[in-house]
Amino acid sequence: MAETLCQKHALETFQLDPAKWGVNVQSLSGSPSNFQVYTALLKPHERIMALDLPHGGHLSHGYQVCDKQKAIMLADMAHISGLVAAGVIPSPFEYADIVTTTTHKSLRGPRGAMIFFRNGVKGTNKQGQEVLYDYEDKINQAVFPGLQGGPHNHTITALAVALKYAMTPEYKAYQEQVLSNCSKFADVRITFKGIDGSRVEKVMEAVHIAANKNTVPGDVSAMVPGGIRELRLSHHTEYLEAKLRERIKWACKHSYQDVTFM
Ligand SMILES: Cc1ncc(COP(=O)(O)O)c(C=O)c1O
Repeated sequence: MAETLCQKHALETFQLDPAKWGVNVQSLSGSPSNFQVYTALLKPHERIMALDLPHGGHLSHGYQVCDKQKAIMLADMAHISGLVAAGVIPSPFEYADIVTTTTHKSLRGPRGAMIFFRNGVKGTNKQGQEVLYDYEDKINQAVFPGLQGGPHNHTITALAVALKYAMTPEYKAYQEQVLSNCSKFADVRITFKGIDGSRVEKVMEAVHIAANKNTVPGDVSAMVPGGIRELRLSHHTEYLEAKLRERIKWACKHSYQDVTFM
C-alpha cells in the first residue's frame, strides 16, 4: 500500500529506527501539520514557546512564552528537510520529540507534510517501570478523523517516490549544490540605502529568480523586511554557481543600491 511504503521511505530517508520513531504522512500541508500536533498534545490553556517570526519562526508556531519544565520539543524543519535528508546539515531528530516538515520545499516532493513522533520507551518511573511515549495514537487521531477526512493517496504516492529519490547519491550531490549556492547568496552584502527585501524581490523576479521578501532579526516591520528567501529549487540544478551569483549581483545593482561581494 502506498501509505505504508511512504512511511517506510520516510523513516529510512531520515535514518530513523522504526522501534523509536513513527510518522504520519497524511497531513495535507505544513500549517495543518503543526495544528494537528497542537490538537493532539496540548490541553486547553497549555502554552507554546516558539521563535519570533523574524528569528525563523512561522505563523503556525504560536507566540506564547512557555516556562513549564518537561515541555515537548517540536522541530519544524520545513525549510531544511531536504538538506537534513541528504545529511549535509545536522538533523533535529537527535533532540526533538516531534518533527514536522512540509514536503514541497527543499525536500522537493509534492505539496504536503509529515509528522514524525517518538515511539517506544520514554524512560522509567519512580517504581522502576517503563514509561512509553504516547504520541502515535494522539497524533494519528488528530490528523484523521480530528482535522482531516480521507487521505490524499496521490500525494502520498508522490511523496513515497520523492523520499526514495532523496536517498540517492544524485540527491546528496544536489543538496551539496544547494548549500554552495546559498553561500553565494550569503556573500552578497547589501549596504542599506533604502533597499529592502520587497524591492529586491521585484527585481529578482524580473530576472527570473523566484524569491520572496522575508523578515530577519532586527527588522522593525514585516512590510519592509531586510531579507529575501529564494524559492525555486530547480535553480540549484539549472544554474552554475557563477551564473547565479552574476544574476543576483545584477538584480541587486538594479535595485539602485551598493552591492559588495566578499
Ligand atoms: C517553517 C514553516 N512551517 C510551516 C509552513 C506552512 O506550510 P504550508 O504552506 O504548507 O501550510 C511554512 C511555510 O512557509 C514554513 O516555512
